[in-house]
Amino acid sequence: MAVVKVANKSIDVARHLIPKARAASTSALIAQTASSPNMPPGFTAKVGRLETFILPEKVSGSVSDKAIADAMIGAWRRDGILQIGMSKSQQRLYQAANAASRRFFAQPHASKQACVDDMSYSGYIASGEEITDGIADYSEIFTVTKDLPHTDQRVAQGWPCHGPCPWLDQDMKAIMSNYMDDLAVSGEKLLQLIEMGLDVPTGSLTRYTKDGWHHMRVLRFPQNNRTNGKGKKGRGIGSHTDYGLLVIAAQDDVGGLFVRPPHENEQFSNWEKSSAGLRENEAGWVYVPPVDGTFTVFPGDMMQYMTNNLLQSTPHKVGLNVRERFAFAYFHEPNFRSVVRPLPGYNAGQSPIEGIHYGTHFTNMFLRNYPDRVTTARLREEGRYQLLGLEELRDDDGVL
Ligand SMILES: [Fe+2]
Repeated sequence: MAVVKVANKSIDVARHLIPKARAASTSALIAQTASSPNMPPGFTAKVGRLETFILPEKVSGSVSDKAIADAMIGAWRRDGILQIGMSKSQQRLYQAANAASRRFFAQPHASKQACVDDMSYSGYIASGEEITDGIADYSEIFTVTKDLPHTDQRVAQGWPCHGPCPWLDQDMKAIMSNYMDDLAVSGEKLLQLIEMGLDVPTGSLTRYTKDGWHHMRVLRFPQNNRTNGKGKKGRGIGSHTDYGLLVIAAQDDVGGLFVRPPHENEQFSNWEKSSAGLRENEAGWVYVPPVDGTFTVFPGDMMQYMTNNLLQSTPHKVGLNVRERFAFAYFHEPNFRSVVRPLPGYNAGQSPIEGIHYGTHFTNMFLRNYPDRVTTARLREEGRYQLLGLEELRDDDGVL
């Protein structure tokens, strides 16, 4: 694996390492077409060997930061995904979250099913409940969105998707919240580096993430021969792109994630037309083998829109493996009220020219994925979708 350790090193080291690491990674990606021992059975894909970056303690705008930033942009444009090394404390937080996830999913079905909220999309999603491109997924999920009490004004006023997170217990709440809070710090650093890599003014991205609508999916995938027959054989989650700015994912040692790197003449605009299911069974996918002590990071829909497709939202899918698998996908997002716009220098009049209201995009995605959920039914019955058009729910300046 190519490792780019430029943080806390002298710039000479950074200059020396980056070109070599990038070259090694590219050739490995092209050369390796054989199946990996832990690739889910029934899938054909190249095996990815991703570049790994170590985030600086603090993004200061240094020459070293700029070198990392440029290399990251290059890795995303080539591979669609890269890895960042976990710090020691992040490893501990991840392990605690993984243990909490296993404990949650081991609960009796009735206990898990009770973890549902009808105001937010937080909580339990049973295997077979999530729909991607009209087909049930086998993933079993606990979604965490911003945990807001009923007394919160936004919840009291019925803002779509706003409400409490129905945790199993206080332990789960504390562990998952710590994990997410830490990833939020990494997410901000990544955005700062992207601003540098794109040569846009400081704050061009982070202006949108004050009180960002960061959320997370805690995922369990059943062993491939222990499914309930509702979905497509071997499929954990069908191909799709994620909604916001960045996805920071973690997985155990089982393996199941596939990504679709940018291909020439292939472009998805998920905010206009669903990219779910597209190219799912075609050639061109890359398997992301688990690498201990790393997160994988890839861009989402809003990043693609804001950069005029320079950083594309990476299509990905999950296959079921011969063992059950546990994973996390943390989403670093704009504020729910944000109307995001193309970044300075990346505005080519892309559609929609009036910007994208992130809260509406998020709500649309959840309505599409969970048509039968109690939250969807209540939102529709109470006519709350229209609230998304209110001035109070929109920030047209991007400055909060
Ligand atoms: Fe996803």
